[in-house]
Amino acid sequence: MAGAGGGVWKAHAAESPASTTRIRTPEYVPFLPPAAQRWSRCRSRWYDGFVNLAVACDHGGFPLKSRVVEELRKLGHQVIDLGTDSAQPVDYPDYARAVAGEILAGRVERAVLICGSGAGACVAANKFRGIRAATCHDSFSARQSVEDDDVNVLCLGARVIGPELAVELVRDYVNARFSGAERHRRRLGKIAAFEAAFGQ
Ligand code: RB5
Repeated sequence: MAGAGGGVWKAHAAESPASTTRIRTPEYVPFLPPAAQRWSRCRSRWYDGFVNLAVACDHGGFPLKSRVVEELRKLGHQVIDLGTDSAQPVDYPDYARAVAGEILAGRVERAVLICGSGAGACVAANKFRGIRAATCHDSFSARQSVEDDDVNVLCLGARVIGPELAVELVRDYVNARFSGAERHRRRLGKIAAFEAAFGQ
């Protein structure tokens, strides 16, 4: 099965020895372009590529969205802007669904999803199988959530952070690449097993 952000799950993998329930743990095989694999082997970051992204927000996130889109495009990334386009109240799950749909269809690799707090958007996005969303309001988390957890939806709260921090976080996020380290693949495999067992 194709995973969001390019990762794939191998169908027949060993059962997790640590598992207390009978959940089969698939092996997490991240998608990394060859150059990224070379860089990740020396535990460095890969800067030469551009990321295809979807950006969306609800009315709470609307004040940040255009600044984020503008910054990403200025950096050379391909951005699909999925709205909303005004401060008129809308429902953040609809926008979480929109970005998840773009990722799961393979049209983009990652997304930035903005609501008022960054919380609701994150909760909604994580309901989609293959989506790994995290709300990150500091640079360390914005980078490490990708390097360790292969996060493919960065959630931001426009009522929590300002535009300058937002663009810094977005830069950290798009510059980061999943390390591919065995321990992280193993943990992501366990999460995939939860999705397979309980996400029907
Ligand atoms: C909308 O008022 C607000 O609830 C939403 O943007 C978000 O903060 C939810 O978590």
